[in-house]
Amino acid sequence: MPKQGLFVTFEGGEGTGKSTQIRLLADRLRRRGVDVLMTREPGGSPGAEAVRHVILSGAAEEYGTRMEAVLFAAARNDHVEEIIRPALASGAVVLCDRFMDSSRVYQGITGNLEPAFVQNLERVAVNGVVPDCTIILDVPAAEGLRRARLRTGDSGEKVEPDRFEKEELDTHEKRREAFLDIAEADPLRCRVVDAGGMPEAIAEKVFAIIEPLLPIQASRPKEAGKG
Ligand code: TYD
Repeated sequence: MPKQGLFVTFEGGEGTGKSTQIRLLADRLRRRGVDVLMTREPGGSPGAEAVRHVILSGAAEEYGTRMEAVLFAAARNDHVEEIIRPALASGAVVLCDRFMDSSRVYQGITGNLEPAFVQNLERVAVNGVVPDCTIILDVPAAEGLRRARLRTGDSGEKVEPDRFEKEELDTHEKRREAFLDIAEADPLRCRVVDAGGMPEAIAEKVFAIIEPLLPIQASRPKEAGKG
């Protein structure tokens, strides 16, 4: 079946505001009558959410980076086949918080895995479902970490850093560079957005990138002058 929807992924380091931007974009698209699916990795399907807990708690860390990379890939394949591919086939705009570029960066670059191993896992995991557009939100690593550490949970409690947030500043800086390298190598798919300003201003930049890509029906404003 030909793909009809639009697959957009959001990538970047910790505290770059990915989830805020996804929410703002989803709200704006929905106001136009667009069918939007918001999802995230690791997770997004029941099988992948089960694996998410194993990875982010650090339970798999002692078995090494290869094991973690395979777990991320297993979760991704389940998410793709159960959720993303069917949503795209139904014409939805899928907004996904992290996807294959996070594995390239976290497992491949800062996890020091061989490129061929990472590429093979990626091919199996995505099974042909590659993002139409990847928004890379970019802020200096120190600023991103500062924001991530200010994060609170739904009831206002301090959220503990996960397995990957605990790593050193220079590791986060390396990840930032690696995301920028991916963007440079694949300029047709990737767009870098400076995520240093106010959320609403960043949302305008993101919308300007996505609007021309919307499936024909979805790009027609529902109400003139709005959205
Ligand atoms: P999450 O709580 O979703 O954090 P964030 O708000 O930063 O997206 O945790 C996801 C963590 O998992 C994050 O530190 C990045 C890491 N990760 C990988 O290492 N590889 C991957 O393929 C993915 C999707 C995430």
